Amino acid sequence: MCGIVGIVSNKSVVKPLIDGLKSLEYRGYDSAGVAVINDHQPINIKQVGRVELLDQEVTHNDEAMNAIIGIGHTRWATHGAPTTINAHPHSNSSNTIFVVHNGIIENFKEIKILLENEGYKFISDTDTEVIPHLIDYYLKTEKTFKQAFTRALDDLHGAYAIAALYTKTPDSIYVARLSSPLLIGIGNKENYVASDASAIINHTKQVVYLKDYEMAVLTNKSVKIHNFKRKTEIIPKTEELDFDLEKAKLGNFPNYLLKEIFDSPETVRLASAGRVRSGSNIIKLGGLENVKEQLKYIDRIVIAACGTSYYAGLVGEYLIEEIAGLPVEVQLASEFKYRSEPFSRSTALIAISQSGETADTIAAIKKVENYGVLKLGIVNAIGSTISRITDAGVYCHAGPELSVASTKAFIAQVTVLTEIALSLSNGNSPLFKPLVDELSILPEKIVSILGQSKNIEQLAKKYSKYKDFIFMGRGYAYPCALEGALKLKELTYIHAEGYAAGEMKHGPLAMIDANFPTFVIATDSTMTDKTLSNISEIKARGGPIIALVSEGNKSIKSYTDDVIYVPKTLEQTQPLVVATALHLFAYHMAMALGRNVDRPRNLAKSVTVE
Ligand code: AGP
Repeated sequence: MCGIVGIVSNKSVVKPLIDGLKSLEYRGYDSAGVAVINDHQPINIKQVGRVELLDQEVTHNDEAMNAIIGIGHTRWATHGAPTTINAHPHSNSSNTIFVVHNGIIENFKEIKILLENEGYKFISDTDTEVIPHLIDYYLKTEKTFKQAFTRALDDLHGAYAIAALYTKTPDSIYVARLSSPLLIGIGNKENYVASDASAIINHTKQVVYLKDYEMAVLTNKSVKIHNFKRKTEIIPKTEELDFDLEKAKLGNFPNYLLKEIFDSPETVRLASAGRVRSGSNIIKLGGLENVKEQLKYIDRIVIAACGTSYYAGLVGEYLIEEIAGLPVEVQLASEFKYRSEPFSRSTALIAISQSGETADTIAAIKKVENYGVLKLGIVNAIGSTISRITDAGVYCHAGPELSVASTKAFIAQVTVLTEIALSLSNGNSPLFKPLVDELSILPEKIVSILGQSKNIEQLAKKYSKYKDFIFMGRGYAYPCALEGALKLKELTYIHAEGYAAGEMKHGPLAMIDANFPTFVIATDSTMTDKTLSNISEIKARGGPIIALVSEGNKSIKSYTDDVIYVPKTLEQTQPLVVATALHLFAYHMAMALGRNVDRPRNLAKSVTVE
């Protein structure tokens, strides 16, 4: 996913542009660029690599430093390799139009052929480059840039957030949104546009979220918004940003990943605050108030999500089925949208997404729009697309999660799913009171695992030489095994698989030998004995074993090479303590291998392309 920032001011914009791009790097960071206009003259500077490299070049360009209008972009390549030519901003051949774009133009090939037949020359491999040429094409017949810009938007299919400059109107930034996030910041004698709040929070908390099919013209004195599909003017609805930069700050942690893992106890508290109270048999989920009546008639729940959010959904499946007695089916959002399955008005879809911008998950929601299905969201990013296109939902309140690997968001999502399961049970489950009481003391149990960070670091260093891992568990431990394997994969680039422990004999056991460690999650449960027999099968084949068990389980030592103990807790809340240990293990292994833990190679924080 790419990051966009634009500023039109009465003073130099380059430094705030670069700072804004740096705060967006978590969205994608294989190249970056800025285009500014100084006295009608454009300056377009692009660099492969981190924004830091761009910063060094731009801030040494005096012409650029005097510019009071500009747009910038950090890229996560979708079409075309990460090269300077493919970096944004892209321009028309006469260098009068400059465009940055987040999303995918699905019909770019047809547009490119049409424009080449009109004599246009392309220099990049990107889909984005069609946009400045298409605007140029319409400028030949339209009276104003805004009209040509709107004509071009009408031709584009797919997903986009766009910001554009035109050297003949050097006081205006033209922006538009379809399915990719874009918000406008209202400042004092300057206005901003950005992909998300982190890029402008230092300047303003007054924002306007653009909706699909809305375009806007920004000057340093005005913001005018239009719906370019309905051709209607939109009165901007300014909102106060709920984004605390302090929370996003690193503090004394070496990187965001470790900070966010150590945020986990607070994350449970924030996700429970005002919702769960010991001694009370009511779960207060304000975000579901407006659909309370509809929820009474729900007899089936489908959960759609991607990656770590999907694994949180798998925990949610066990929780809702066991506590609320409702059938739940969890599906990968990228598969869900292609299935032809029956829905009814008594089905609810729960979309889980930290960013609230994941294209596959958005597509899953849009798929059920005409079925009368109740659409709910479990989202962390406030004001994000998913939070706006669902009927209701529950925010995670985990605060900004900036590291690409999702950790505290998983903790928040599972906490919220526990609350939803308890709420749907209407207090009738025998697990209700024990779980409400356990949630109130869980943060301290997670703190005690964080206190094992040094021991886990030693363990991770010991196992950092291996090239293959398998994580396994049963019941609530199975989604944890999947999550542990994903974290190890995405942070260390090592091959790791998550498996249901009962499946080991159906194939994976063939892989086991002295070079293939198994991470067994065998916390106290009714299935621990069965998992112990899996451990013996692995031991018999010489496979190294790390076991993650509940405190007090002394017998496990004789079966395994290493053990991580986690505090005893209810089976239903074990994922919250187990995940923290797994996150620490993956973190320390990645650090031992010298990986960039906040920006793993090839990945982006939020995947806004399908
Ligand atoms: C998790 O560590 C990964 N970064 C990735 O799998 C992520 O969970 C997935 O892309 C879903 O993102 P979302 O929660 O923002 O929708």
